[in-house]
Amino acid sequence: MEARPRPELFDFHGVGMIKEFTENWDNIQNFKARADNILIATYPKAGTTWVSYILDLLYFGHMGPDRQTSIPLHDRVPFLEICKPPLLIGTDLADKLPTTPRLIKTHLPVQTCCCLVLQVVYVACNAKDNAVSYFHFERMNCAMPEPGDWKTTFSFYLQLVFGSWYDHVNGWWEKEQIYSNFHYMFYEDLIEDCGREIDRLCSFLGLSPSAEEKERVKASVTFDNMKQNKMTNYSTFDTMNQTISPFMRKGKVGEWKNHFTVAQNEQFDEDYKQKMKNPDLKFRYEI
Ligand code: A3P
Repeated sequence: MEARPRPELFDFHGVGMIKEFTENWDNIQNFKARADNILIATYPKAGTTWVSYILDLLYFGHMGPDRQTSIPLHDRVPFLEICKPPLLIGTDLADKLPTTPRLIKTHLPVQTCCCLVLQVVYVACNAKDNAVSYFHFERMNCAMPEPGDWKTTFSFYLQLVFGSWYDHVNGWWEKEQIYSNFHYMFYEDLIEDCGREIDRLCSFLGLSPSAEEKERVKASVTFDNMKQNKMTNYSTFDTMNQTISPFMRKGKVGEWKNHFTVAQNEQFDEDYKQKMKNPDLKFRYEI
């Protein structure tokens, strides 16, 4: 695959951004959410695809095999802020979705996400694994800024595209504390017990799938199955070079230990203490 020019990160209303996510800004801000919308919000690399697929199967798993074998997940769950004309404009894709409810994904920090929706599912992943996953994602995806080596990515302390991880996870957490239409999930909990998390999700959404349906969803969304599945592994996405690093890379909690040096871990913990102001929001770094 030929190397393509990488986008530059720039400041956009105080948030690190690339053009692909700001070009359609007016339409994003004026996007008309419908009563049946479910917004899946995450900082990139926190488990967006996993939860999107769980939701897609819970709502549309009964629609028959064609949908599951011929429509890539990223077309079933449009990415609100993406803008790569003519084909990939998130707001247009969302407007054209034929199914109800509409599942829509966003990485926007809460203060820039004006889209009023009935239900929001937020997924957060611990900062260390999130940083490592983000690093490999930027390496393999030429639509993202050039990450350099791990040391360079580390030196950003999770101040990457879509801004600061700290602002993101805290901002959405604060909303979750206030509004009952928010469900806050953790990647670590999904790894620990995906079935339990599906149950919690169903109870939040008022869904009551049969035990069989639930088992089917659980079996379909394992890491290995999603890695093999061309509709969920992003192999249809031409900006991603999966020979550099697969999109479905490790799928584990604690992978950060293979990247962080002892010194980096100490520096990171120190920086974390300064920036993580919310004592109620706690993450696990191993399971
Ligand atoms: P790794 O890079 O650590 O492997 P997003 O969808 O937000 O981009 O997140 C991608 C991360 O979620 C990747 O992490 C990917 O492997 C992981 N992931 C996706 N589906 C998963 C699954 N079914 N089980 C475990 N991890 C999964």
